[in-house]
Amino acid sequence: MPHWPRHARIDGPIVMIGFGSIGKGTLPLIERHFEFDKSRFIVIDPDDSDRKLLDERGIRFLHLAITRDNYRDTLGKLLKEVGGQGFCVNLSVDTSSLDIMRFCREIGALYIDTVIEPWPGFYFDKSLGPEARSNYALRETVLAERRANPGGSTAVSCCGANPGMVSWFVKQALVNLAGDLGDKAEAPKTREDWGRLAQRLGVKGVHIAERDTQRAKSPKPRNVFVNTWSVEGFLSEGMQPAELGWGTHETWKPANAGAHQAGCGAAIYLNQPGANTRVRSWTPTALGQFGFLVTHNESISIADYYTVRDGAGAPVYRPTCHYAYHPCDDAVLSLHEMFGRAGAMQEEHHILGETEILDGIDELGVLLYGHKRNAYWYGSQLSVEETREIAPYQNATGLQVTSAVLAGMVWALENPKAGIVEADEMDYRRCLEVQTPYLGPVIGAYTDWTPLTGRPGLFPEDIDTSDPWQFRNVLVR
Ligand SMILES: NC(=O)c1ccc[n+]([C@@H]2O[C@H](COP(=O)([O-])OP(=O)(O)OC[C@H]3O[C@@H](n4cnc5c(N)ncnc54)[C@H](O)[C@@H]3O)[C@@H](O)[C@H]2O)c1
Repeated sequence: MPHWPRHARIDGPIVMIGFGSIGKGTLPLIERHFEFDKSRFIVIDPDDSDRKLLDERGIRFLHLAITRDNYRDTLGKLLKEVGGQGFCVNLSVDTSSLDIMRFCREIGALYIDTVIEPWPGFYFDKSLGPEARSNYALRETVLAERRANPGGSTAVSCCGANPGMVSWFVKQALVNLAGDLGDKAEAPKTREDWGRLAQRLGVKGVHIAERDTQRAKSPKPRNVFVNTWSVEGFLSEGMQPAELGWGTHETWKPANAGAHQAGCGAAIYLNQPGANTRVRSWTPTALGQFGFLVTHNESISIADYYTVRDGAGAPVYRPTCHYAYHPCDDAVLSLHEMFGRAGAMQEEHHILGETEILDGIDELGVLLYGHKRNAYWYGSQLSVEETREIAPYQNATGLQVTSAVLAGMVWALENPKAGIVEADEMDYRRCLEVQTPYLGPVIGAYTDWTPLTGRPGLFPEDIDTSDPWQFRNVLVR
């Protein structure tokens, strides 16, 4: 058993919103790594099916849905309890990250979440249209809040595995690649340095390349959506438009692509759901594979972070960045079933608990492509077996997320006045130092695979042979 360090003391109340797959998995990590007063820890969720875990520990449980009408009152009473700085850990669906984050900062509490979640209704509101339902739009609301209220109590936005940990992986992968390519420059310190490093190394883009091979002991029943993490969360993001950070090397755009008139300008969206958009990608286990181009905050934040601009502010370099997600096989079947009936969702949802899984790993990393060594994958290959040994109440997917929440909490406690931050802006070394004991093998692997490997096959294809790493070759059409 590894030695588990106590990283910090949390003096004030801890309020965890949401006790689903990620909340349950985060609980034992908080217990293990922080000193705190148990009587000042409270969990809020409208679903009480797992409250036994809290009751047996003497942790308070509030059986309630946080809403637009009650969040200020409810959270205010709990977080403003006398003594110490409160910490709000938001791991729920259907609550507004922006409103709760803003309120926490108003009252001087620390805040962390794993996604920019809106109040209910947003994801499936047909009147909004695809552009308004995008993650780009959600992220811009948080950036606007930061511009309006710079500095202040730390609020870590989008700090799970992805978004979150993968931003730290991109930095580590760039440093490794720089070493392997003989780049002798000093380690980057600023955002501009990081952008210039990626540009100098010739990185055309980044896939968040994931293969979840966790297999359920029982086959998926018909009419049930099965996944290894929130089905609700996956359906919400899967039905948003596909979105990607749009690189400066791209020479072709899909006909149904849309651009944003305002904001950072780093991304485009497609007029089709991400969970029904396939791309070609690579992970060490799968080798070549189809992944879904599901929209994620990090696709936009990473592309934005690494943008290099000229004196007039025009982008001269930006990597393309998007998710290429092969969820567990049962989730692939669930999507196939759902899109086969025009997106009508299964009424029953099921998240596979660690005891229901036969075997498998969640292989989650970043594929940096287009440089002199072609492509480099860097990431975690955490198995469900190892997960069972090192942390309770979660599968491999969950532990990659909850250990990132842990790292983000440690960083926030060590940097309590950093204002609103994204994972790209945090100290990746410190965060990975905290998180790595939970990630199983963390490896780097080069490949000579490209999206043109083995193509064209038996039929003519619309491909660009002059540059294998064009999105034109990556997108499955
Ligand atoms: N960044 C990442 O890597 C990452 C990975 C997995 C999940 N997530 C996000 O984390 C969040 C939680 O995921 P999960 O797998 O635990 O989901 P889950 O569906 O298992 O749990 C969500 C919990 O939120 C509760 N909830 C719903 N409405 C609420 C409300 N109004 N107030 C308080 N609680 C409410 C639900 O009852 C449920 O227990 C989701 O937003 C998901 O998208 C992020």
